[in-house]
Amino acid sequence: MQGEFVRFARDIAIEAGALLLKGFRSESTIISYKSRTDLVTDVDRSSEAFLVGRISDRFPDHAIIAEEGSRKDAAGGYLWYVDPLDGTNNFAHGIPFFCVSIGIFSLNESRVVAGVVYNPYLDEMFTAERGGGAFLNGKPVHVSLTADAGISLIATGFPYDRTQSGNNNLMEFNRILPQVQGVRRMGAAAIDLSYVACGRLDGYWEAKLFPWDMAAGSLLVEEAGGTVTRYDGGQFYPDYPEILATNGKIHKEMSIILSRRE
Ligand code: IPD
Ligand code: CA
Ligand code: CA
Repeated sequence: MQGEFVRFARDIAIEAGALLLKGFRSESTIISYKSRTDLVTDVDRSSEAFLVGRISDRFPDHAIIAEEGSRKDAAGGYLWYVDPLDGTNNFAHGIPFFCVSIGIFSLNESRVVAGVVYNPYLDEMFTAERGGGAFLNGKPVHVSLTADAGISLIATGFPYDRTQSGNNNLMEFNRILPQVQGVRRMGAAAIDLSYVACGRLDGYWEAKLFPWDMAAGSLLVEEAGGTVTRYDGGQFYPDYPEILATNGKIHKEMSIILSRRE
């Protein structure tokens, strides 16, 4: 069954990716604002409508939660978390760093069991299923071997409500930056996680995320041999809005820095 999930999710992510590419750097793409810092495009919505329609047709008894508002309850034991366009700000600015992210959560096992992250611009398809490893375009991937946080390349992100809330990651950023080789803010959480999975990044932290941002990527990191927790090392769940994902070797050090009380 899970093999079927990944194959199906991969196929629909490729089709949704084609929709994203069609709207990318296109004058016909319509941008609107949820708030001054949080924008959305008609392409986010059409990608979501396509993905939710296909999932509902194929798995009518599965539940769905997607970023742009689609909600479907069902008793079939699985919940699909869908981000139809992760990296919307990049997309709207013509920056080619965005993806489709689909994570499948088992309500019986209470954990993510399959996930795909697809960057259509680079044609990079990351896939994972629980217990089966993580793959990039069909080839196995592994987290990096770096054990020294001081030479680690780490990614993070800042929440959309950062101008209204003091809980805006600046304190954590100030603590981490001097301790590592570099920090990147690339603007697509699911790709950040995929890059930890394939060893391009050594770690990633962010808060105030949603399950559709993290579900697929968290499984990719675990299946690639990495570690995924809350900042304090506690159990990660996609609906708890905080994630620390690393190659495992620098995890404890990162966790101590992030969870330190001032
Ligand atoms: C956002 C991106 C970004 C992260 C934000 C997310 P969106 O998702 O993943 O990197 O920092 O918190 O909301 O809005 O582009 O789907
Ligand atoms: Ca997102
Ligand atoms: Ca999105």
